[in-house]
Amino acid sequence: MFAEPSAKALEDGRLLFAKECTFIAGAASLDALPASGPNEIAFAGRSNVGKSSLLNALTGRNRLARVSQSPGRTRQINFFELDGRLTLADLPGYGFARASKKESTQWNALVFDYLRGRPSLRRVMLLIDSRRGLMPADMKVMALLDKAAVSYQLVLTKTDKLTEQALNTVAAESMRDAVRHGAAHPELLATSSQTGQGIEELRAVLSAFAETAKS
Ligand code: GTP
Ligand code: MG
Repeated sequence: MFAEPSAKALEDGRLLFAKECTFIAGAASLDALPASGPNEIAFAGRSNVGKSSLLNALTGRNRLARVSQSPGRTRQINFFELDGRLTLADLPGYGFARASKKESTQWNALVFDYLRGRPSLRRVMLLIDSRRGLMPADMKVMALLDKAAVSYQLVLTKTDKLTEQALNTVAAESMRDAVRHGAAHPELLATSSQTGQGIEELRAVLSAFAETAKS
C-alpha cells in the first residue's frame, strides 16, 4: 500500500533535492503559464491540505512556497525548477477557499484547466488530509484526471496529527477508493511536513521523474 523506494532511489532523491530550487513563475491565469520546461509534477489538493508546506519540507527551504494560518493562501500556480531537471508546481487549493465565490470559481477553473492540458505534466501528487481522507472534491479531481489520462498518486498529509492505527485505516480506505480509478498509481505516501515523516520517500519517488543531467 505504501511506496517503499529502493536504497538507490532514496539516494537519488536526496541528491536531487540537495540541489538548487529556483522560482520560475507564478501564473494566475492560463495565458500566463510559463512554457513547458523539464518534466513537471503538480501538488494538488483541497485548500489547507498542506501543499505549500510539503514543497518547503521537500526542498528544505522554509519560505520557498508561502504558507499561512488560513486556507486560500496560494492564489496562483507557482512553478519551481529543481536543478534544471524537474519542475514542481504548487497549485491553489480547491474545494474551499475563504474567498469570494467568484475568486474560488476562478481558481478552480485555473487548476482544472491546467491539470487537463499541461503537456509536460508527468504526475499529480494528490494531497489528502490524513484526518479526513478522500472528500467529494477530491473524487471530482480524480475523475477529471482519469478522463485526461494524467497519472496521479495519493499523498496523505499531516500524519503527525494521527495515531499509526488511524493512519493505516485512512490509508487503506483511500487506496480502496483510488484503485477503482484508472489513472491512480497503486502506492501512496504518508507524510508530515512537521516531523519529516515520508519526506525522504517522496523525494525518492519524485527523483524518478527528473530528466537526466546535462553534462
Ligand atoms: P492553500 O494554498 O490555501 O491551498 O493551502 P496549502 O494546501 O498550501 O496548505 P499550507 O501549506 O498553506 O498549510 C495550511 C496549514 O496547515 C498551515 O497552518 C500549516 O502550518 C499546516 N500544516 C501543513 N502541513 C502540516 C503538517 O504536516 N502537520 C501539521 N500539524 N500542520 C501542517
Ligand atoms: Mg498553498
